[in-house]
Amino acid sequence: MKNKRSSQWFQTPGYHGMARRAWLRSEGYPADVFDGKPVVGICNSWSELTNCNAHLREVATAVKRGVLAAGGLPLEFPTISLGEMFMLPTTMMFRNLMAMDVEESIRANPLDAVVLLCGCDKTTPAQLMGAASADIPAIVVPGGPMLAGQFQGQRLGSGTDGRKLFDLYRTGKLTDEEWSEVEGCIARTSGHCTVMGTASTMTSLAEALGMTLPGSASIPAPDSRRMANAELSGRAAVDLIEKGLTPTRILTREAFENAITVLMALGGSTNAVVHLIAIAGRVGIRLTLDDFDRIARKTPCIANVKPSGEYLMEDLFHAGGVPAVMNRIKDLLHGGCVTVNGKTAAENIERTKSQDDKVIRQVSPEGGIAVLYGNLAPDGAVIKVTAASAELLRHRGRAYVFETRDQMMAEVDRDDLAVDRDTVLVMRNCGPKGAPGFPEWGHIPMPKKLLEQGVTDMVRISDARMSGTSFGTVVLHVAPESAVGGPLAIVQTGDEIVLDVAARKLDLLLPPGEIERRLNTFKTPPPQYQRGYGRLFLDHVTQAHLGCDFDFLMPEVKS
Ligand code: FES
Repeated sequence: MKNKRSSQWFQTPGYHGMARRAWLRSEGYPADVFDGKPVVGICNSWSELTNCNAHLREVATAVKRGVLAAGGLPLEFPTISLGEMFMLPTTMMFRNLMAMDVEESIRANPLDAVVLLCGCDKTTPAQLMGAASADIPAIVVPGGPMLAGQFQGQRLGSGTDGRKLFDLYRTGKLTDEEWSEVEGCIARTSGHCTVMGTASTMTSLAEALGMTLPGSASIPAPDSRRMANAELSGRAAVDLIEKGLTPTRILTREAFENAITVLMALGGSTNAVVHLIAIAGRVGIRLTLDDFDRIARKTPCIANVKPSGEYLMEDLFHAGGVPAVMNRIKDLLHGGCVTVNGKTAAENIERTKSQDDKVIRQVSPEGGIAVLYGNLAPDGAVIKVTAASAELLRHRGRAYVFETRDQMMAEVDRDDLAVDRDTVLVMRNCGPKGAPGFPEWGHIPMPKKLLEQGVTDMVRISDARMSGTSFGTVVLHVAPESAVGGPLAIVQTGDEIVLDVAARKLDLLLPPGEIERRLNTFKTPPPQYQRGYGRLFLDHVTQAHLGCDFDFLMPEVKS
């Protein structure tokens, strides 16, 4: 193998070459590790603060076996990790920080290829963004989903079912003891959330992009095949160097269109819209919300997985995983896209087929996500149609406005809250700059007084994101956000709002003159950070429809 990048470090004559070899030998390596072996970095988002990724050190051992078997030298390194359950104000605030950490850790070190170990929501897009910018051969190894929980004879999917059971607990239908039992069983194994939340969506899309070995995304974390997949990925990483197959050769516009198609077929998380736009932006490809809507209209949702359907990721695995889903919609895919094993997408899926047509079956004739425009969202908003109530997809109602999430949380359970089943709940100051960090606050809880009346869904609108495990008729990512003067900032309680998903419309029923008059009174709120990373974030984060990457991290757009 010639022209290896790592040679610049280890084959340098003189003092520096000797010192680099000597210092690596301090880790106990013999001299022959420098005999031209390709160096494969294992970029590990392991952390005990990221429970979903806490098993990735074991996964790394399997990757190392594969790299060694293929004649390479594996070197594992950490980066910042993003644990969805713990980080405040939100992991999304740190996705770009992790992407920068990944990019610069790869670029600064003597690596010929990198294996990216990810799992929890933001760790996958952050690694893909960083690796795309660094552009040395890279392969993704997801940590895999958890196994299902079991509660009173019911299988529980982490995230989705916890929220449903919480509504029962809030309204006194579950006891404290039962609620504690849920806590003990809903996340009972290693791995990330096991519904089609953001983690499962993003690892599946890494596969659809061609950045994992086929079948990688859905293997449950505790399954022995997870480790086998990791070992094979380690071997494949060495092969990637030989082939010179870098992310920019894999991440083409066609590959992103495949990922969007698979997103719609899976009924995946709305967060993927923001992340795919950001990853594409790193290789100079401008995806727009219209790309998502165009593909959604022609792609059926065929993964019967929560929150859009009934089953869990381990069921999708047994049904054939992402390859079986892709095979079912192969006519909608660009089959010629090259993937990390050197084969095309079409070659990878040609012999896979569904093993369970209860799990891989049509859930909806169109994709899971629709893009809305209107005077309330001039730059767009999204809604997860497959997780919404059909009867609310065309709705006209009066707004009840929460200025902030804190206000909403303080008031939503008040018995005298002036709302009924037709009210449209509006919450602002929850976007990229407003919250700040674009948190998953968009799933505004149903007001307790309506839950007690048996109302389980209503239209909710915000400039926040929503967890991929959530459900309901929830309009998200309203852009421009309220904190930068988007029209959401001027909605008042009592204003009428029209949502028409079939027409892709989201409108505030006010005369244009009144909208303009109110917008002229808008004052930008003072920044919430004066220094440090928070200040950098506020100064450079882009809006939702542009992917929320930092403006200075995006190269010139190619297409
Ligand atoms: Fe990590 Fe759900 S909390 S994937």
